[in-house]
Amino acid sequence: MAEKIQIALASDHAGFALKEKVRNYLTSKGVEVHDLGPNSPASVDYPEYAEKVATEVAGHQADSGILVCGTGLGMMLAANKVPGIRALPCNDTLSAHFARSHNNGNILSMGARLVDEATMEKVIDTWLATPFEGGRHEQRVKQIDAIDQRHH
Ligand code: RB5
Repeated sequence: MAEKIQIALASDHAGFALKEKVRNYLTSKGVEVHDLGPNSPASVDYPEYAEKVATEVAGHQADSGILVCGTGLGMMLAANKVPGIRALPCNDTLSAHFARSHNNGNILSMGARLVDEATMEKVIDTWLATPFEGGRHEQRVKQIDAIDQRHH
């Protein structure tokens, strides 16, 4: 049997309710979820949780990551500070498709204030089903990674 896809997941308080739905949806699809918190809707600072997911993804402990905050933007910014991370805002299926196929995204960042449950499920379906196209996009992604290396 093929190994389960592993996804590292976290949110802040604004994304907590949707994060719980994301975890349940992924589990129902047979994905193994590493829920890195938080465990309640109490107020937290999103960089801490973004870094937890980014560290797992950069360290290849998960195949990819999902972050949920109010807009998806703050967590995405924080995650992209970790070398090797390509976190992208995916609040619709077109963004999710190209985030994977062209950008080889490894973290999907979602805004709970922008996405309802039905859209979240479609975005995740698209993310999981879309491979990186490679080809001409490979050199561009390598150029992005080279920026990381030049500045660290
Ligand atoms: C929290 O109020 C909010 O700032 C956060 O969830 C996120 O939207 C930041 O980008």
